[in-house]
Amino acid sequence: MKRIDPSIIPKKKLYTGAEIPCVGMGTFGSDRVAPAEVSEAVEGAIRCGYRLFDCAACYGNEAQIGQVFRKVLEEKVAEREELFIMSKVWNDMHREVEKACRKSIADLACGYLDMYFIHWPFPNYHAPGCDVDARNPDSRPFSEDEFLDTYRQCEELANQGLIRHIGISNMTIPKLEAVLPKLRIMPAAAEIEMHPAFQQKELKEYLEARGIVPVGYMPIGSPRRPERDIMDEDIVDLEMPRIREIAGAHGVSPAAVALKWAHQNGQIPIPFSIHHYYENLECMTKDPLTEEEMASIAGLERGNRLVKGHVFLWEGAKDWHELWDE
Ligand SMILES: NC(=O)c1ccc[n+]([C@@H]2O[C@H](COP(=O)([O-])OP(=O)(O)OC[C@H]3O[C@@H](n4cnc5c(N)ncnc54)[C@H](OP(=O)(O)O)[C@@H]3O)[C@@H](O)[C@H]2O)c1
Repeated sequence: MKRIDPSIIPKKKLYTGAEIPCVGMGTFGSDRVAPAEVSEAVEGAIRCGYRLFDCAACYGNEAQIGQVFRKVLEEKVAEREELFIMSKVWNDMHREVEKACRKSIADLACGYLDMYFIHWPFPNYHAPGCDVDARNPDSRPFSEDEFLDTYRQCEELANQGLIRHIGISNMTIPKLEAVLPKLRIMPAAAEIEMHPAFQQKELKEYLEARGIVPVGYMPIGSPRRPERDIMDEDIVDLEMPRIREIAGAHGVSPAAVALKWAHQNGQIPIPFSIHHYYENLECMTKDPLTEEEMASIAGLERGNRLVKGHVFLWEGAKDWHELWDE
């Protein structure tokens, strides 16, 4: 098997001084890839040099991924301290964060989490695999008090040593403005959707200015995302002519161009892959994009949010833009 020495993978520093690899493996099978297939890819990824894994309770595969972590740790493929394992509290567990966290730690067989994200900033819950028109009557708009209560529970987990860092996800600048001054432990990272046709420059700069590392999800435009997140008007990042042109110039795939751009742009991409994970790691180690290429990708911004979040809407909400304070 081809392998890349994890020590040559560039790292970023979190505000705590801890290091995090510049690329991680996503583990959301998008309602299409079974847990066993995802965990098999995670095992291949660790053996080929990945050290950062983005997991979540709602992906429904933490127990299978945990079996892989147990195995590779026993075989000393990596030490626990070398892995950076992230998980997320799902929306239906905001009032029981410790219980959710302990379950993820037990399922992942990892002892503690390096980062624990609040997956969404509200408790609106949808059933796995639901369609775009599904609505939960209990859904409601963002509440500062509810969010702070959930966050306080994460701070408690950090104090107990169950988690090393707190992460936030799917937040917006207005929501951050409301809550950041009230937090005792700052979030170390924020997961947000980021790919060439949706770069979130303003939010990214806002996060960076506050020492919060942006983690870009759907970094290659999630070509196999769930049906509910596919709209006719969506742009396919990997088919953008300029991305294909740059790929040709470097002799790599359009996906590798999107990942190189993400890394050089300053976010940590977390591509999911069953078939291409080696390529996705390798492309971080050589042949960077030129300044001119980076500038031309900056010009590909199209405001094309792929995860609109319809399924989280509450009764009376106008449309999905409201979810993002747009
Ligand atoms: N915080 C949140 O709310 C949130 C939301 C969405 C996603 N995420 C996280 O972000 C991760 C990534 O997002 P995502 O999985 O939706 O989308 P993505 O990483 O942009 O796309 C994954 C898809 O791209 C394909 N792919 C990967 N590398 C490729 C390459 N080099 N060439 C061609 N195709 C390639 C994969 O196919 P193969 O499997 O065939 O390689 C897979 O179908 C998720 O797994 C999850 O961990 C977080």
